[in-house]
Amino acid sequence: MKAKAAKIAEGVYWVGVLHWNSRTFHGYGIPGTTYNAYLVFGGEKTVLIDNVYGGLDNQLYARIEDAFAQEGKDIQIDVFVQNHSEMDHSTHLRETIEKYNPEAEIYASPNCAKFLEQQYHNFGDLKINTVQTGDEVDIGGRTLAFVSAPMLHWPDSMFTFLVEDGILFSNDAFGQHVCHSKRFDEDYSLDILEKEAQKYYANLVTLGSPMLRMKLQELTDNGIVDQIKMIAPCHGQIWKNPKFIIDLYAKWGSGVCKDKITVIYDTMHHSTEKLAFQIAEGIASEGVEVAMYFMQHDGPDDAITDILDSKAIALGAPTMMNKPFPRIGNMIYWLDCVNFAGTTSNKNALIFSSKGWGGGAVKKLQTDLEAAGFNVTDTLDVTFVPDEDVLEEAFNKGAELARSIKE
Ligand code: FEO
Repeated sequence: MKAKAAKIAEGVYWVGVLHWNSRTFHGYGIPGTTYNAYLVFGGEKTVLIDNVYGGLDNQLYARIEDAFAQEGKDIQIDVFVQNHSEMDHSTHLRETIEKYNPEAEIYASPNCAKFLEQQYHNFGDLKINTVQTGDEVDIGGRTLAFVSAPMLHWPDSMFTFLVEDGILFSNDAFGQHVCHSKRFDEDYSLDILEKEAQKYYANLVTLGSPMLRMKLQELTDNGIVDQIKMIAPCHGQIWKNPKFIIDLYAKWGSGVCKDKITVIYDTMHHSTEKLAFQIAEGIASEGVEVAMYFMQHDGPDDAITDILDSKAIALGAPTMMNKPFPRIGNMIYWLDCVNFAGTTSNKNALIFSSKGWGGGAVKKLQTDLEAAGFNVTDTLDVTFVPDEDVLEEAFNKGAELARSIKE
C-alpha cells in the first residue's frame, strides 16, 4: 500500500497507523484510534520508536519507507525503542526488526523485555538492552533519554525523551482514542480532544494516578517538564501545546473535580427513574451540574468519564430478587476496576432504589460502592411507585448531596 509519513519536526516523522473503524478498545467505546510510531533520524543512527497493532503493519511499512524517501536516505533502522509491550504497540515488532535490520540495537525496560517474550514467545534470541531512568543513547547529535513510567499504563511502560528537540514520546500516557487525517492537537476541536483525553484517562489511567503524581513531580523536579516542547503519545493527536494536557493530567490525577454530580441509574417500571429525575432536579436546584446516565442504553465508560471530575455520584437500581437490577452490576465492576480513590478525590455517594417488598439493592450497592472507594453519605429505599411525598424526599436528598460537595 501507499501511505505518507508525517514530518512532525526536523528529522522526526510519525509513521503510525490510522485505525479508522475501531469502535472498542479495552472494553470501551471509541470513535476510531491511531497506533503511533515515530522515526527519528540522528546524525549517525535512525531510530524507530514503538510499533503497531496486529494486521495493520502495511501502513507502518509504507510510512517508514516514505520517511526515508523524504530524507533522501536508503532504508536502514539502527535502533528500535519499545516503550511498552501491550499488543497495540508491539504486534509487528519482531517482524519489523527482521524486515529492516536484524542486527539493530533494541532498547526497552526490563519488564517490557520480559513481557514481549511472554506474549510472543519469539524474543528470546534477541539481545534487548534494558534501560531505566537516567540511561541515554547518543544517535549522533541527538540524545534519547529514557524515563521509567510504571503503571502508565503497564508495569513495563517508559517514556523516551528526545533531549535536544524537547519531544517526549510518552506511549500510552497523554493519549486519546481519536482517528484524524492530521496529526496535531491544533488540527482537532480542542473541546472534543479534551473530552476524549478525559475518557482515556478515566478508563485507562485512573488506577495509575498515584504513579502519575509521582512521575509529574519527578519530571518537574529534574527540569524535564520545562524542556518539553511537544508530547508525542501512541494514540491520537500530538500535543504541540504540552502544558494543556500536562495540566489536565495533574488535575485528573490529584482528584480536582468540578461542582458536578453524576447520576447513574437503571429502572424496571420507571419508579427508580422517577427518583433519578427528582434527585437530578434537587442537585440542579443548588446550581450544581448534573451528568445523567441510564444504564439500559448508556455505557459505563461514558459514565466513568464524567465521574472522574464529579465530586459525587447518585447511583440507583431497582431491587430484583433481593439484589440490584443486574445491569447496574457492569457499572459496579467498572467503578471497582478504575478505583477513583487513587486520585484522592474521596467522592460522596447517594444510593437510591425502588423495591416491591423485601428490598436488598441498597444494602448491596452500599457494600459495593464503599469497596470501590466511595463515601456513601445517604440512601433512599422506596416501596413500589414513589408518591408526591417520596418524590419531594428524593428532590431534597439530591439538594442535600449537592450542598455536601459545596461545603
Ligand atoms: Fe495503548 Fe497499554 O497500550
